[in-house]
Amino acid sequence: MIDILPIQIQPTAASRLAEVDFDHLEFGKAFSDHMFSVDYRDGEWQNAQIVPYGDMAVSPANSALHYGQAIFEGMKAYRQADGGVALFRPLDNWARLNSSAERMCMPTISEELFMQGLTELIRLDEKWVPSAPGYSLYIRPFMFATDGFIGVRPSDSYRFMIFTCPVGLYFNKPLRVRFEQKYVRSAEGGAGYAKNAGNYGAAMYPTKLAQNEGYNQLIWTDASEHQYVEESGTMNAIFVIDGRVVTPALSTSILDGVTRRSVLALARDMGLTVEERRVSSREVMEAQAAGKLNEAFGVGTAATIAPIATIGYQGRDYDLPATDASAFSRRVAAALDAIRTGEGADIHDWMVRV
Ligand code: COI
Repeated sequence: MIDILPIQIQPTAASRLAEVDFDHLEFGKAFSDHMFSVDYRDGEWQNAQIVPYGDMAVSPANSALHYGQAIFEGMKAYRQADGGVALFRPLDNWARLNSSAERMCMPTISEELFMQGLTELIRLDEKWVPSAPGYSLYIRPFMFATDGFIGVRPSDSYRFMIFTCPVGLYFNKPLRVRFEQKYVRSAEGGAGYAKNAGNYGAAMYPTKLAQNEGYNQLIWTDASEHQYVEESGTMNAIFVIDGRVVTPALSTSILDGVTRRSVLALARDMGLTVEERRVSSREVMEAQAAGKLNEAFGVGTAATIAPIATIGYQGRDYDLPATDASAFSRRVAAALDAIRTGEGADIHDWMVRV
């Protein structure tokens, strides 16, 4: 397999940078000037290019559109205190992309090609990386089938792409969530651990029902007993129960979140007890009733650390105590921010300079 490919660069003749209000960025609405793409054909990656961001032509018969052979990643680049730009744990996303690719019968991509496309794209669109606190450049690598064929079998050809968006907060206030005990996101042995498009499409209907009831997101539970916490919306879920950091253990139905992994590492650094295990809705609600549910929050690349203010359970809403600066979620969010912006020591070597 060829590890590094020459990338043909076609710079835009008309940058859209000046049209973007960098003081009021919303998530996912503004797209940087360029996008990277590379095609998989005849058993190898070829035709790597960076072109102006825009629409493209694909076969209407491709297996991504019909059978969901499509996967993606979410990652971020941060403006550094010294003015440079650095990526947060990009190799974790590369590894997870390949694990999703294997699950969906798609080709893997080499670390070198992934990092080469990513780095050249970010360098070209370097001015799009926001510098205001709390803002970052969201990066969306993705891959989809491109064969024009509607038989049900893995496609022979694919396209891998990356585009980027300067973003602000995904959620701008503490969340109202409720346990989902009817619909399921994923079952043991399914593809819930993979970041394939279908997982997200199938979650929209139950989420919409909850949103119609005034919740922002769901807390998904397991497919067999509808009791054990899986994830919250598009985030992993973490609880602080009686001072211990408790989160569902990874399984084939839970996404192995990079933010989850980072928050747990920082919790251990802070000397806290971390428990990765089964967590039932009953345990969470009993802790709440006993005044021992100190905190609940979602963690994800887009969402960062999203505090949960209210949990709905069996038709009733329960409020969590307001957090102050000593809360774990606040301390860990500050510690992560310091690492990401280069203001704090990167003791785990998570940051990669562009
Ligand atoms: C991310 O946090 O990057 C995600 O993938 C969630 C997304 C679907 C907005």
